[in-house]
Amino acid sequence: MKAAYLTAYGGPDVLAIRDIPAPVLAPHDVLIRQHASTVSPADCAMRSGNPALIRLFTGLTRPRQPVPGGAVAGVVEAVGAAVTRYRPGDRVFGTTDPHPNAMAELVALPEEGALALLPERASYADAAALSYSFLTAMPYLRDEAQLKPGQSILIHGAAGSIGVVAVQLARQMGAIVTATCSTHRLALVESLGPDRTIDRTAEDFTATSAAYDVIFDTVGKSSFAACREALKPGGIYLTTTPSLAIATNMLRGTQADGKRAKMATTGLRKTADKARDIELLRTMLAAGTLRAVIDRTYPLERIAEAHAYVETGTKAGDVVIEITPSLSA
Ligand SMILES: NC(=O)c1ccc[n+]([C@@H]2O[C@H](COP(=O)([O-])OP(=O)(O)OC[C@H]3O[C@@H](n4cnc5c(N)ncnc54)[C@H](OP(=O)(O)O)[C@@H]3O)[C@@H](O)[C@H]2O)c1
Repeated sequence: MKAAYLTAYGGPDVLAIRDIPAPVLAPHDVLIRQHASTVSPADCAMRSGNPALIRLFTGLTRPRQPVPGGAVAGVVEAVGAAVTRYRPGDRVFGTTDPHPNAMAELVALPEEGALALLPERASYADAAALSYSFLTAMPYLRDEAQLKPGQSILIHGAAGSIGVVAVQLARQMGAIVTATCSTHRLALVESLGPDRTIDRTAEDFTATSAAYDVIFDTVGKSSFAACREALKPGGIYLTTTPSLAIATNMLRGTQADGKRAKMATTGLRKTADKARDIELLRTMLAAGTLRAVIDRTYPLERIAEAHAYVETGTKAGDVVIEITPSLSA
């Protein structure tokens, strides 16, 4: 089968398309013929081995797992002898995270993994896009922020993959949502339904006092120190990216004014928790209550270009990879 393949850490050009053996099916596995996956900033970090700390998890000298990608959306091709929940022909979606290997024509996932049936009304591209961002945005808002109706939240980086989903979910949770983005993304972000949108290139969202119960920096471009004054007493600052400052603030815990800062590693949650959230996403896809934003779509053969674009840090929503069957698969 065709797959994207990494032989070393480096720029997008280290990605090649190779013919590799199809996965061997274990009794509880579902074999999925992929139609769509995504490229995220995390995929770019795993490809480049940068920041270097990531190599502790992905391999010290070269990528331990040569096939990148986590998002799964396709059709069940075959099932292991013990599988009861899926049948060949079922449309399914989910994720292989934290073990990338989805950027291939065929992917095997355990039936108890983060996998669900894909509702008829949802496309493979939408499901792949949302599986990555929902599995980050939902635990941040529900479990870390414990967002409640009537609370005020600022979502920084609202045009990004996690941001577009976070804005929609926070609104559905009944929060008062302020979203930031740059000028050319204002119309997109406003279409997601926040109460207020801030053009971050024209206004400093931190230049306010006691305005928000939650500040969720989805792109890791701010700091707790800079945002602290904008938080209400007892407020929480959340960021998706690791830094020495956030680690120090997490060790300090809740400060005298009741404010605190946190980064969560949603990708490393238990499979059972992710599976529950993929099932929740399935119900939202069936009801049509969550919208995917797809910036660009590339065929698998052009995955290096997709990585180069994602690495610019300017994408809106998601970058999807279309995987079409080849004769050799
Ligand atoms: N902690 C976890 O478990 C976890 C899980 C998944 C992902 N992540 C991390 O989360 C981060 C965000 O992922 P993503 O896929 O949502 O990112 P993304 O889609 O690549 O974000 C792109 C958006 O960032 C905004 N942006 C660029 N520069 C900015 C700046 N200086 N200030 C504010 N916004 C800026 C841009 O919008 P505007 O220019 O319009 O503002 C752009 O649309 C990544 O670093 C990823 O590795 C963490």
